Amino acid sequence: MKKILVTGGAGFIGSCFVKMLLKRKSRKHIVILDKLTYAGNIKNLEGYIDRDCVEFVKGDICSTRLLDNVVPGVDIIYNFAAETHVDRSILKGASFVRTDVMGTYTLLQKALEYKVSRFVQVSTDEVYGSLDKGKFSENDPIEPNSPYSASKSGADLLVRAFYKTYGLPAIITRSSNNYGPFQHPEKFIPLFITNALEGKPLPIYGDGKNVRDWIYVEDNCRAIDIVGRRGKIGQVYNIGAAEEKENVYIARKIIKFTGADKNLLTFITDRPGHDRRYALCARKLKSLGWKKEYTFNKGLGKTVKWYQENKEWWQEVKRGSFKKYYRKMYGKRIAASREEKAKK
Ligand code: NAD
Ligand code: TYD
Repeated sequence: MKKILVTGGAGFIGSCFVKMLLKRKSRKHIVILDKLTYAGNIKNLEGYIDRDCVEFVKGDICSTRLLDNVVPGVDIIYNFAAETHVDRSILKGASFVRTDVMGTYTLLQKALEYKVSRFVQVSTDEVYGSLDKGKFSENDPIEPNSPYSASKSGADLLVRAFYKTYGLPAIITRSSNNYGPFQHPEKFIPLFITNALEGKPLPIYGDGKNVRDWIYVEDNCRAIDIVGRRGKIGQVYNIGAAEEKENVYIARKIIKFTGADKNLLTFITDRPGHDRRYALCARKLKSLGWKKEYTFNKGLGKTVKWYQENKEWWQEVKRGSFKKYYRKMYGKRIAASREEKAKK
């Protein structure tokens, strides 16, 4: 029986990935290792975690002692565990370096020691930096611009080094921006949906014309699974849905889908070092047989509906330490934007 370790499995994408694996009939044992930081939520796994073939371990990927208990016997590791929010990395980057770089290093060491047959590093298109025209291919250099993307780049380079130096059978996926159910409301799409549902401002950075290539979370999870099974060892695979959208376009769509007041749209001072545009060429992934199932319109509609129907989930997340973070991140910027509007 295959033993699969999913780190960060209580987060947004990791939990979707676990559920996808469990929907399949194949015999397997899934170990979920998650520190349950502010971003992890055991409720993301409700209805799945109590199955016989699932084991949940609360812990840190930086702990060698813990990994000595968890990794022996594992066939494949999917490393989703990370600090993931760019804005938080700008406020305070230490936990990003610790988990994303040191945590990945510790996991790589243990994967090697216990002869894991495959290591899938879940990375991001943000490692490539920003581009005006064209699309990033896997051969482009990495030029990260935020402490988050720099930390993820450090992890990618370590994965590459473990493959080259020690022959660790590792693969890297670099996906574009994900959206869908269970995403923490600190991120753009769920923040705007939940604020729209609460009648709160939708704080858009700068001119709102930054572009991201959006992928529905289930499409990304299917891609990660395909790469894990059919991808070539030592390779990088971009995962993108070719759904490039400006932020302001998405904000207006959310207003339309939720029926919110369009005056909620609030332009605030930009994020420092804000990448203008991401776009990915996913030809290599498609050659493994992957195809997206969700257009942006279909995925966003489904996502809005989920947040409308699952208010308890996000209201609880927004009640906790998030309030303090939100005030710090947006309080003065929203007030300044209102003052400026009043002057005009
Ligand atoms: P998330 O923030 O929702 O979840 C991260 C999970 O990792 C949480 O459950 C958290 O508790 C756990 N974690 C954090 N530090 C840990 C540690 N030291 N040890 C063990 N667990 C720890 O993130 P997500 O959006 O689900 O992203 C998952 C992965 O996908 C990340 O590696 C991220 O860089 C990558 N990624 C995300 C996106 C996106 O748009 N969300 C895009 C491309 C790549
Ligand atoms: P985000 O979800 O933080 O993902 P990333 O920065 O990693 O791509 O942000 C997506 C885009 O939305 C990005 O261009 C920044 C912008 N944004 C806002 O305009 N307002 C917000 O409150 C947030 C969180 C993001």
